[in-house]
Amino acid sequence: MTWPPAPLDPDELAGVVRPFGASRMLPARAYTSAEVLGWEHRHLFAGTWSCLGRLAELPAQRGATVGDVPVLLTRTGDEVRAFANTCRHRGHELLPDGGSADGRVVVCPYHGWVYTVDGALAAAPRFRDVPGFDPAEHGLVPLPARVWHGWVFVNATGDAPPFEEYAGALTELVAPYAPDRLTLAARHSYEVRANWKLLHENYQECYHCPRIHPELCAVSPPDSGDNYDLPGAWVGGSMDLRDGMATMSVDGRSGGVPLPGVDQRRVRYLALLPDLLLSLHPDYVMTHRMRPVAPDRTRVECSWLMPGGVADPTYAVEFWDRTNRQDWAACESVQRGLASPHFRPGPFAPNEDAVHQWVTLVGRAYRGDPPWAGG
Ligand code: FES
Ligand code: FE
Repeated sequence: MTWPPAPLDPDELAGVVRPFGASRMLPARAYTSAEVLGWEHRHLFAGTWSCLGRLAELPAQRGATVGDVPVLLTRTGDEVRAFANTCRHRGHELLPDGGSADGRVVVCPYHGWVYTVDGALAAAPRFRDVPGFDPAEHGLVPLPARVWHGWVFVNATGDAPPFEEYAGALTELVAPYAPDRLTLAARHSYEVRANWKLLHENYQECYHCPRIHPELCAVSPPDSGDNYDLPGAWVGGSMDLRDGMATMSVDGRSGGVPLPGVDQRRVRYLALLPDLLLSLHPDYVMTHRMRPVAPDRTRVECSWLMPGGVADPTYAVEFWDRTNRQDWAACESVQRGLASPHFRPGPFAPNEDAVHQWVTLVGRAYRGDPPWAGG
């Protein structure tokens, strides 16, 4: 399977997909064009597996937008189903984006068609005597959904490969942290005036750390660690903690408890395309869930997950809130800089190999090869 190419100049993308050392950053229009974002919404968001948050926070019914596709989630216990959020009568959404409902049936707000939580049409007012009307032909359109380590994922176009194949080796890398057993300790929401991909690229290198993250460099050497090169639609690596530092916090001390069975000397930074950053610490898991709202605007939901019973997550929240804001300021400045008519895509430093991996994934997708196509 291939995708239609993104509305970008193929010559500009030729520089992106060159081998590391010869490749360049994405062209400016990839970060500024509404048309490119429209393509990304359909293919990189709706066409892949997008994260819709934590199972523990999912109500019985929720409306969501995945890329450009409205989705309805229903939940029965730990079982999650996804459907096109499009009534089979005349197309009204069953719940608005972000809306939720309780109850065992889904009722369309427009003319009152009623569906069961598994998508079957249960009632259609005034249709009882309509000849030839068969409710079985008017069930909601099901979409692939998957609960993974406590997060809910949906493939809104319905044509991505199974989630296991998509996530590849990431599943095992995350497993020791057992995020499904952790609870939400804190959450911050940010609106960043930068393209969503700049946040990914910034996340994939610590070349910038000595310049803008004094607190981070005090607990973790910016040139430490390695990047992974394993199967799956993700990019990431690890960094070491300095001797005597227990975790990423302002003084390097943990106010929580070590997660059993996980590496206590290393922090893993993993980005699953398109919208989930997973930062795995010895004592907590932090995620950034990103949603582009405009080419130059991204909503970020940052969550700290910890074992139940940790009294005060401030040690981790304060450290990362400060670091987040340093990163957002840098990304916003890059957004302004690349909107300049004088911007030309620059080369990568030797320690920006993970950024190269990331832009290669995106550059190939722009040319029509989905992130699971390999190559
Ligand atoms: Fe849903 Fe008419 S559009 S009942
Ligand atoms: Fe940073």
